[in-house]
Amino acid sequence: MVEVRFLGHSAFLLVDGEDRVLIDPFISDNPLATASVEKLDPTLILVTHAHDDHLGDAIELSKASGAPVLATFEVANFCEDQGASSIPAHMGGEIDFPFGPVKLFPAWHSSSYQGRALGNPCSFLVRMRGKGIFHAGDTCLFSDMRLIGEEGVDLALLPIGGGFTMGIDDAVRAARFLEAGAVVPMHYATFDFIDVDPKEFCRKVQESGIDCRVLGINEGYGL
Ligand code: NI
Ligand code: MN
Repeated sequence: MVEVRFLGHSAFLLVDGEDRVLIDPFISDNPLATASVEKLDPTLILVTHAHDDHLGDAIELSKASGAPVLATFEVANFCEDQGASSIPAHMGGEIDFPFGPVKLFPAWHSSSYQGRALGNPCSFLVRMRGKGIFHAGDTCLFSDMRLIGEEGVDLALLPIGGGFTMGIDDAVRAARFLEAGAVVPMHYATFDFIDVDPKEFCRKVQESGIDCRVLGINEGYGL
């Protein structure tokens, strides 16, 4: 079984046996996060874009664990320059790992670090033991999510906070476009600007017959 553990904001740890895939590890500077960064022990780190609330502890964790950072070309090179190991890739690329492939898809957003532009943001479809887990990154709704849905999405991790990303109603439409088996909301409540009610999202998405779970910090979803 794959465990999808929510670490707060858009940070998740996917665990299956020895494989520990950490996504957007914004932990140390997130006052709501309580996970011990030292114990995350990732074997692979995925970063959707270079904004602080996604890059987070990725570089330090890569240095400490040896886990490479898989990201779009400019973000991966930036991490490498800071002493991390990296796997540069880009949209359409599908990189094979022992647990299965990780494929990069678009996200409509930006990617920058301290004012320096770092290429395009992305989203990830992680196929772990055959299960498709889609992490949307920061994005608006876009109709090509239907194409991602054709790949088979068992669980979609979707931003719902609005402001910088899609809000609740567009995230409901995204879940439908993706034909997701289940959804878990993310990117809400971390700061006032994105403080929306995840239960409202779940109520609305369940009306479309899609299962929804609001995860507490450090709570896991079994898949
Ligand atoms: Ni962002
Ligand atoms: Mn963000």
